[in-house]
Amino acid sequence: MATSRRNFLKSASCASVPFILPSHIWAGATKQSDLPNMAFIGLGIQARGLLANFLQQDVKVVAMCDVDKTRREDGVKRVDDFYKDHPDKGTPGNCKGYSDFREVLARKDIDLVCVATPDHWHAYITVAAMRAGKDVYCEKPLTYNIPEAVAVMKAAKRYNRILQTGAMQRSSFEFLTAAELVRNGCIGKITRVDCNFGGPSRPHFDPPKDIPMEPGLDFDMWCGGAPLVKYNDQLAPRGVHNFYPMVWRMDDLFGSGYCGDWGAHHLDIAQWGLGMDNSGPVKVTKAERTEKDKANAQLGGRAQSGVVLEFADGVKLTHNPFSTFGTVFYGTDGTISVNRGKFEMTHGKELVSTYSKKGDAGSLEGALAKARKAFLTDSTYKTKLYKTKGGHPADFVACAKSRQRACSNEDIGGRAAILCHLCNMSYVRDASFDWNPSRNTFANGTGNPAWLVREGGYRDNWDVHALTKRWWTL
Ligand SMILES: NC(=O)c1ccc[n+]([C@@H]2O[C@H](COP(=O)([O-])OP(=O)(O)OC[C@H]3O[C@@H](n4cnc5c(N)ncnc54)[C@H](O)[C@@H]3O)[C@@H](O)[C@H]2O)c1
Repeated sequence: MATSRRNFLKSASCASVPFILPSHIWAGATKQSDLPNMAFIGLGIQARGLLANFLQQDVKVVAMCDVDKTRREDGVKRVDDFYKDHPDKGTPGNCKGYSDFREVLARKDIDLVCVATPDHWHAYITVAAMRAGKDVYCEKPLTYNIPEAVAVMKAAKRYNRILQTGAMQRSSFEFLTAAELVRNGCIGKITRVDCNFGGPSRPHFDPPKDIPMEPGLDFDMWCGGAPLVKYNDQLAPRGVHNFYPMVWRMDDLFGSGYCGDWGAHHLDIAQWGLGMDNSGPVKVTKAERTEKDKANAQLGGRAQSGVVLEFADGVKLTHNPFSTFGTVFYGTDGTISVNRGKFEMTHGKELVSTYSKKGDAGSLEGALAKARKAFLTDSTYKTKLYKTKGGHPADFVACAKSRQRACSNEDIGGRAAILCHLCNMSYVRDASFDWNPSRNTFANGTGNPAWLVREGGYRDNWDVHALTKRWWTL
């Protein structure tokens, strides 16, 4: 028997009742009418890539939402054009454009939502979507701050929703291999980890001159719970282009610098390798600021690298600048270094295998196979980590059907976001502090709870905590 999406929705929306749909019920659900309906909220550069991928999955894209008219119309056209060319997958003309995401979430026929707005909107839209009975693919870092991460982790459970964080390195074989080698003790006991990415967020600066607003952008809704700042076409770039928007990422009010942007990937892989997916560090030690750091007002006088996160077992994770490898594990018997398309393993004084760029001898696959064959043998390969099939978006769609947890579920994405924010907070506050990863609070009288929340509160009640009426305790 195939379950129609209408029946699926009816059962899935009983949010207070635990809901597990056996995967065999979905097995025959390949008819177009039975496929889940999907919406996209936030249609920037990342959403375009995700859309191209999700259109290939067993979903029908029926709603495209952006506060920018040009991007919204372009999104709808992309969907229509795809279904014109692939009538077996969907019907052109069925996808509607929206400026206000609340109208999308109010649609009862929508099952899946992809959130690819700037980070300051992630938590609110994700929790609102889950409360409305939708499963959510939300981009990384999962949230803008730590209490928001706690809220998303709790909301996914409260509403029995499937959540996938867009930290797609979890679906790449080089990262899986690195984490499995570490977790199976192939380089001995881990003593330290390096995570290599750019610097922290920066103070907000308004443009020196007024920039005229082009029509078709709801900038108030773009700013959301953040302060309504002066319009800035670098902060919220208009139009459909390949300009990578770094300004909001680096801005204290909207992002968390590279700590959130790349930290969400490389710190996440460190957590995976260390087996810390349900925990986190207990101590954060600040980086010493150089005279050059102090003199740089644009960067807020902040140090740019060197924060150390220490785990309860004594493992120290250091944030260093961008480098060839994103995450490097140091063990008593060797090292494992990994990045996208790059892998290296040493054991004792031996180089086991290496591949980091075109032109190197061999291939990435060869380097991974050599390390796996030598070290993940029948007797050592005890810990097998979650291996996705068909990639990160496909894992989300499969999990929404099977009701199994996704490979980068709310706890994994939430905990990774917490690491990003601990790291960024240490730079912004120029502070060292102790941390309680069970309660997600400062420990031993250190830190300041005011650092955890949005300074000045949220504007216009765009506060995820108001949404959930504080049914959790921090
Ligand atoms: N997984 C990855 O490797 C990866 C790569 C790039 C970006 N990202 C993440 O994807 C997200 C989007 O990044 P981007 O580079 O595409 O940014 P972007 O600025 O290009 O796109 C964001 C879009 O969201 C829209 N938006 C803002 N507020 C909105 C609202 N209230 N409702 C609807 N739309 C709204 C903006 O108008 C814009 O079109 C970020 O969280 C980023 O960290 C992830």
